[in-house]
Amino acid sequence: MANKTIVLACDHAALDLKKKVITHLEDLGYATVDVGTHTTDSCAYPEYASAACQKIQNGEADLGILICGTGIGMGMAANKHRGIRAAICSDTFSASATRLHNDANVLCFGARVVGEGVAMQLVDAFIGTEYEGGRHQSRVDMLTAIEEREARR
Ligand code: RB5
Repeated sequence: MANKTIVLACDHAALDLKKKVITHLEDLGYATVDVGTHTTDSCAYPEYASAACQKIQNGEADLGILICGTGIGMGMAANKHRGIRAAICSDTFSASATRLHNDANVLCFGARVVGEGVAMQLVDAFIGTEYEGGRHQSRVDMLTAIEEREARR
């Protein structure tokens, strides 16, 4: 479904790959929002993960793709945000399954982990798969309940 808006973020380790992912998405007809970083100067991944997650939270983007060296820091930061379900993936089965079962709204991967070819396949698997709902909804609701409980602590 190419009428989605995808927000992208990276740190200094992943600038080139993020640019290629943006080109790939735009070639497929997706709208993109790039919240940075825009240079290879050393920077802090939580800042960019947070900027991207806020775009999803406020409805300016439907899904996010966050890329750092490993994808792990971006994933950790993203999952601190209310309503964000971020999946760190390096295989296409997981990138698709996390949409189907977890209703993941953010994909994270590492520019030092996957090559350009696998990165594009991860993007295609994630963006091209819709949440199944049904039996998965009560489990996703439990994730939200945990988030709400932790916010009250
Ligand atoms: C940057 O060197 C690196 O720590 C970062 O890109 C990421 O891998 C953190 O999780």
